[in-house]
Amino acid sequence: MYSNIRAAVVGSINMDLILRADKIPQAGENLLGTDYGYSNGGKGANQAIGLSRLGAATKLIGKVADDANGQKLLENLKNNNVDVSGVSTSGSQTGLAAIILDGEGNNRIIVYEGANAEIDAASAAEHITDDIDLLLVQFEISEEVVTECVNRAIEQNIITVVDCGPAKPFELEKIQGVTIISPNESETEMLTGVFPKDEESVLEASKILMERSKAKYVVLKLGSRGCSVWDGECLRLMPAYKSKVVDTTAAGDCFTAAMALEYFHSGDIYAACDMGNKAGSISVSRMGAQASMPTVEDISKI
Ligand code: ATP
Ligand code: RIB
Repeated sequence: MYSNIRAAVVGSINMDLILRADKIPQAGENLLGTDYGYSNGGKGANQAIGLSRLGAATKLIGKVADDANGQKLLENLKNNNVDVSGVSTSGSQTGLAAIILDGEGNNRIIVYEGANAEIDAASAAEHITDDIDLLLVQFEISEEVVTECVNRAIEQNIITVVDCGPAKPFELEKIQGVTIISPNESETEMLTGVFPKDEESVLEASKILMERSKAKYVVLKLGSRGCSVWDGECLRLMPAYKSKVVDTTAAGDCFTAAMALEYFHSGDIYAACDMGNKAGSISVSRMGAQASMPTVEDISKI
């Protein structure tokens, strides 16, 4: 279905350390965990694997170090058919995310950027050429790299999807004219000062985001409430699909990848967000980041 789409992702690559406990500790509290494990992650790599699992020819542009984690992460990307010729291995240390999961699958994440913060903007932008249909970026790399790559893509009429994670005060005015801008709830609050708690605040925040980025569409990811779409005239709330939550990590990455592919495929933003909601509901029902990304066949069973 999406096999004719050539997608590129500029973004982060992390080793995730996932530690589970029944609850999240308070400041100063020491708790016993139930289990832990290492898992391949990073918002850029997660989205690249999300795209590739759904069938798109996918290239990742990023940076790791030539260390054990970097080698493992690259190996897994290759095993998932992601073209890693744009990933440099000259970083100081591969990125690491420490993820604490509570008994309900909710997470708290601290990221050490390492090599992700060392991507050179000009070198990354050289990979944004007219043989790409679709560019995905996130904010887990420097603002300069995002800005340079997005603007290079816009100049070439490449569809650009900006996932605003993690929450940071990014200058959206520098990437005006993107196709879709898509923050989650906390990122929306960081970028607009408005938490999208109800229809009125979803609309208020969406208008601010559109004004700042001049995006064609603003898509808010609203967790278990699904998502919203604002096209400048009409606001539509699209409820989530029911799911048994195991781990919400990378649900946003999964949503963004599926939404982006369906948007390129059909040009229909509502069909795209429906696909994102379906994919996201599968992702939260599975453990891990990249391991939780569905195939088209998985999605067709919903
Ligand atoms: P993360 O940062 O953990 O990767 P996120 O906060 O960026 O995720 P969310 O808004 O939590 O993203 O989730 C993305 C999408 O996944 C939602 O828009 C929705 O479609 C789906 N989703 C999230 N939580 C649930 C849930 N509890 N049940 C069903 N679908 C969900
Ligand atoms: O979006 C989820 C990702 O955020 C995790 O895989 C972790 O690496 C953090 O970057």
